Amino acid sequence: MCLKRLAFLPLMVEGQVVRGFGRGSKELGIPTANFTDEVVKKLPLEMENGVYFGLASVDAGAVDRMVLSVGWNPQFHNQLKTMETHILRDFSRDFYGSTLRVAVLGYIRPMTSFTSLDELIAAIKDDIRKANDELDKPEYAKYCSQDFFTRPLDSAAKENLPSKEGISDISNNSQEFRS
Ligand SMILES: Cc1cc2nc3c(=O)[nH]c(=O)nc-3n(C[C@H](O)[C@H](O)[C@H](O)COP(=O)(O)O)c2cc1C
Repeated sequence: MCLKRLAFLPLMVEGQVVRGFGRGSKELGIPTANFTDEVVKKLPLEMENGVYFGLASVDAGAVDRMVLSVGWNPQFHNQLKTMETHILRDFSRDFYGSTLRVAVLGYIRPMTSFTSLDELIAAIKDDIRKANDELDKPEYAKYCSQDFFTRPLDSAAKENLPSKEGISDISNNSQEFRS
């Protein structure tokens, strides 16, 4: 299977984890880490709402696979647009206040309203299967070791980097920003 490739990807995003509505863990059994509103507002205009896959790290730790959603969660009629990352590893704790880095690498599907929570859960499990299939491809391995993930926390702030910066050694199209 080949998922849609979008010109603005890969997109590197770094920011603090804040509390969502808490439904991810409790109602869905699929915990998500939410970025701040500030980060969501800075997303490129061409980034359509939907479900994406890629890689993520918490507090500059191990780089894991992830799936994420961007949008208004039509299932729950949210008033606020959110960006929610589900990391494909069991964490025994939540990480509010931690620094989350994500490399958004591909698009899976639009956000949808389902007739039941079970259908939403099944759809997310299918997203995870598709993400794993894609991320098994050797072309994605290079992103794990790139500077975006390996540099220490706050190094960009110390260097006074602008809020949006290209990473030319990976792709001319890649973009990076932090909150
Ligand atoms: C991979 C993935 C796919 C998602 N797909 C949808 C979707 O199709 N429709 C929707 O309303 N919400 C979708 N969501 C968002 C969930 O509804 C949301 O993570 C959940 O409600 C928890 O939100 P909370 O952290 O604000 O409690 C998705 C989330 C993830 C991680």
